[in-house]
Amino acid sequence: MEEFQCGTRIVAGEGAVKVLREYGAKRVFVVTDPYFFKNGMARTVAQETGASQTEFFADVKPDPTVELAAEGTARLKAFGPDLLVALGGGSAMDCAKAMAYFSQGSFPLAAIPTTSGSGSEVTDFAVLTHGDTKYPLVDKRLQPDLAILDSFFLRELPPGLIADTGFDVLTHAVEGFTATGAGMITDLYAQEAFRVAYGCLPASFAGRQEVRLRMHMASCMAGLSFSRAGLGLCHAMSHSLGARFHVPHGRLNAILLPAVIGSNGACCQKKYAVLARAAGMSGSSDGVALRNLRSGLVRLRRELNLPATLAAAGVAPGRVWNALDDIVKAVLADPCCKTNPMPVEDFQVRRILEEVTGHI
Ligand SMILES: NC(=O)c1ccc[n+]([C@@H]2O[C@H](COP(=O)([O-])OP(=O)(O)OC[C@H]3O[C@@H](n4cnc5c(N)ncnc54)[C@H](O)[C@@H]3O)[C@@H](O)[C@H]2O)c1
Ligand SMILES: [Fe+2]
Repeated sequence: MEEFQCGTRIVAGEGAVKVLREYGAKRVFVVTDPYFFKNGMARTVAQETGASQTEFFADVKPDPTVELAAEGTARLKAFGPDLLVALGGGSAMDCAKAMAYFSQGSFPLAAIPTTSGSGSEVTDFAVLTHGDTKYPLVDKRLQPDLAILDSFFLRELPPGLIADTGFDVLTHAVEGFTATGAGMITDLYAQEAFRVAYGCLPASFAGRQEVRLRMHMASCMAGLSFSRAGLGLCHAMSHSLGARFHVPHGRLNAILLPAVIGSNGACCQKKYAVLARAAGMSGSSDGVALRNLRSGLVRLRRELNLPATLAAAGVAPGRVWNALDDIVKAVLADPCCKTNPMPVEDFQVRRILEEVTGHI
């Protein structure tokens, strides 16, 4: 039996932000990061709601902490909004989702992603960091009520951020497609998300605005897929390494994904081959298509100027080896391991770490 339900209303297109007015809000609370507060976009969004009273929580930093979400929750409860708006990347959206969840308020949550991206605008997940650990909260009630995919917010995306977050989309699609919870419906979203993202990323990176909305939709589709299907070892490892070394989430996925595909290859060669072919990487057999998928991702990573190893991303190998046992322990405890297409073993994680640590 397969069930697919998405409680989020999705509105997409240039100017989609105008839909906010329909909610007739009088008191709006906007969660964002300092970038969107300083450039005035957070205020523009608040004006679009038509609300007469606005409060901003603009302190969200990448990889929001439990403490930050608790501080935001207290501010949110004290204000008592009738609409909550999250404006930003996965960090701002996750922080707002956690705040809405902890405050148990009855207002709708509208998520406006500004990266393509985490897919957080439609997922049941919110990732919070505590010390050296990233905790993915998973609950249907974390799903935003409204997702606004408006290309207006993507116009000034810097190429480096396009590359990092674009590889997050590819990883969501690959892991959603092969996770233990995957079904026919999630497969459709994952496959199309992979095809579109793989095709659009170089053009978006090169500055072509006209592909950005398509890339945004691919990000959302990948979110729809993995939110129901689950993720896998690549995300378990990028959570563990990201909390410890503070390398951007998508960049870590770019470093890890080809190695994880190699490691899982034996158990889901057929599915990897389907993805490769969907994105135009043919192969005379499934084995060849799988190799083409890996080499295609490595080539794309190079084209987007992304690092191939942790060392190239600024993490000295000694730091990895000194914390090796703790890193592996956190990976094995991460909920994403449970939906990896094959059971994750200690030795497998260590072998991938060996492959991606690199040299100075
Ligand atoms: N909830 C989920 O389903 C889910 C899924 C994947 C990742 N995540 C989480 O999302 C976070 C990563 O999110 P992200 O990759 O979107 O980055 P982010 O939200 O951490 O933002 C990174 C930086 O990009 C800047 N930025 C964002 N949009 C911009 C724009 N349009 N123009 C210029 N600068 C902009 C931000 O100000 C910030 O400094 C991680 O914490 C990750 O764990 C959550
Ligand atoms: Fe991700």
